[in-house]
Amino acid sequence: MGVLQGKHIVLGISGSIAAYKAASLTRLLVKAGAEVQIVITPAGKEFITPITLSALSSRPVISEFFSGRDGTWNSHVDIGLWADAMVIAPATAATIGKMAHGVADNMLITTYLSMKAPVFVAPAMDLDMAAHPSTLDNLELLAQRGNYIIESQSGELASHLVGKGRMEEPEVIVSILEDYFTESLDFEGRRVLITAGPTHEAIDPVRFIGNHSSGRMGIALADEFARRGAEVSLVLGPSSLKPSERVELISVTTAEEMLAACQERIGTAHLAIFAAAVADYRPRYSSATKIKREGEDCLELELVQNPDIAATLGAAKEPWQYFMGFALESDAGVEEAKRKMQRKHLDAIVLNSLQDAGAGFAHPTNKVTLFDREGAIEAYELKTKEAVAHDIADFVAKRLDA
Ligand code: CTP
Repeated sequence: MGVLQGKHIVLGISGSIAAYKAASLTRLLVKAGAEVQIVITPAGKEFITPITLSALSSRPVISEFFSGRDGTWNSHVDIGLWADAMVIAPATAATIGKMAHGVADNMLITTYLSMKAPVFVAPAMDLDMAAHPSTLDNLELLAQRGNYIIESQSGELASHLVGKGRMEEPEVIVSILEDYFTESLDFEGRRVLITAGPTHEAIDPVRFIGNHSSGRMGIALADEFARRGAEVSLVLGPSSLKPSERVELISVTTAEEMLAACQERIGTAHLAIFAAAVADYRPRYSSATKIKREGEDCLELELVQNPDIAATLGAAKEPWQYFMGFALESDAGVEEAKRKMQRKHLDAIVLNSLQDAGAGFAHPTNKVTLFDREGAIEAYELKTKEAVAHDIADFVAKRLDA
């Protein structure tokens, strides 16, 4: 029996040519044993008929707030509680915009706003709409709020233009749902502490020493472990990105604040991942007022070392705890990463080499190799940081249970 057997899936359909694929998606879900409740927008009905969909799902299709026949109210709240997952496929630019901004002018959006289960969004639109900053911002906002975006693919579009915007194939959407339900709670009952982002060390009230870390890798890890059932605390340096609402977020600025926040929480953490790019040095003195340029040819800053958070906590690690670090190396990567793992008393380390194009800071992608103390080595391809987080969680899952 498959993992979708008996699962309640709400399938939201909005008005795109790709709505025809919703028919095969419904069929595949039903074949896998799921119960499918379809909610369609008025524009969606222009592309595919409710008769086809209700025949395939063996349930009435919901589209209006009130049933036209007898005036019964369709309760979006009840649907939100019934569902184990909601999939919006196809999700048009308009639907994505309404989801991001709470424009509840149809049944699909009211259902979405009342949804208690995880939501998967499969965009479908023309390439210029897919690339528009408003679409990208709305999708980013939805991802930050914990929705899963099923990226559209490149190919020929309804306009006959070729580019990104094709809805992902129904088979792939079903396998993403299967993966979600398979591994959904393998970290349940675990407490996870993650550091992420840069730290900023004040020179004066307006200037600081910092680095280009975006925090994205650590945020992706926090979201991944939270999705898989862990209780996650994320100690995040200054970053414009945010984790999903399932993650406890502790925002800090300096390395010393990051260490203090970690020390408060490490005692109960089963797993700690140090993904932050901590500034190794801070100014010995930070001026209380803005340092003036006038009359000064040179400015000397005296720097003192910051605490090493991973090494400090690693030195007091309990046998039941599993600690993982990151190593960003420009050369002699493997040996140096292994040395760092030993020096900081870590159980495993993630190496990302600065020599790999697309890896490391300020990229949405990363290419990593994982090592552990037992000598295991796993090298991965260049992937999105979200996909890398998935690989890292799989790597840890095997070892926590061992
Ligand atoms: N780290 C930390 N606190 C620091 C410095 C690093 O917790 N003050 C952690 C990082 O989060 C990472 C690991 O230690 O998990 C390695 O970080 P990296 O900057 O590569 O190592 P450093 O010890 O700073 O060595 P170097 O900069 O000399 O390569």
